[in-house]
Amino acid sequence: MADPYSDLGSQDQALQERIADAMEARCLEPAQIAIRQAYLQDLNLPPNAAALELGSGTGHVTRDLITFAGAATANGIEPSPVMVTRAKTHFAADPRLSFETGDAKNTGLEDASFDLILLHTLLCHVPGPEDVLHEAFRVLKPGGVLAICDGDYSTATTRIADYDPLDQLVRFMINQNVTNLWIMRQISAMLVDAGFSLGSRKGHGYVAEGEATYLLTVIDRGADRMVEEGLLFPETAEALKAEAQARVAAKSFFGFMSYVSQIAIKP
Ligand SMILES: C[S@@+](CC[C@H](N)C(=O)[O-])C[C@H]1O[C@@H](n2cnc3c(N)ncnc32)[C@H](O)[C@@H]1O
Repeated sequence: MADPYSDLGSQDQALQERIADAMEARCLEPAQIAIRQAYLQDLNLPPNAAALELGSGTGHVTRDLITFAGAATANGIEPSPVMVTRAKTHFAADPRLSFETGDAKNTGLEDASFDLILLHTLLCHVPGPEDVLHEAFRVLKPGGVLAICDGDYSTATTRIADYDPLDQLVRFMINQNVTNLWIMRQISAMLVDAGFSLGSRKGHGYVAEGEATYLLTVIDRGADRMVEEGLLFPETAEALKAEAQARVAAKSFFGFMSYVSQIAIKP
């Protein structure tokens, strides 16, 4: 199956809703918020900066462009109508935020109209990420900042010992849901080719905490996908989901992935 995030607006409503739930759970985890704050807080934007998130999902990360980066306004562009409706509904009371359906490769926005553009866990899902970088370059003002953060997906694990079967679900989910596992190891050269100057690059270790809400959605979705693919019987999938929940209850669950952020400037 092709990565459903690469064409989310065309997926059935139930899948869009399930992915929106998972995205929302991830956005709200304190360890994920800390990662976003770490790379957005020192960008030194001009006064009244206009910011844009491409691939804005449920909109929580778009709001970080105001709360962490200090932008005056933030606009989100996202192809999934389910995501855009959630973002508009949730942030209806905040006039600084706006959300529209659209494509990061062809936004229709004016040249040189934004001070900051964010791509947070977008590029790993996009076939032809160079096209998104060229569009971001066009839409940024000279001196504008492009902030990129994505998973370093080969590092994702829930393994607590050799041959741990839960880890297979995570590897399977990444295989099925990520278009380019290596994007953050390739991004610097792509940015230079697109005309950007490189700014700071940081690594961020994500360790699931507490109820491990987001990683449990990964395990649940991985188990269900294995059933759809005929790889597991439904009762085995349910047993693996129960194993993950039991580990959380017993405080023996472990989940980890590295994220990498890269700042770039349009000269
Ligand atoms: C993993 S989600 C991240 C959403 C949000 N940035 C966050 O971190 O919560 C990736 C998002 O990128 C969107 N996306 C995929 N291809 C896109 C494209 N060509 N243009 C704009 N958004 C796209 C998907 O619909 C999805 O909502």
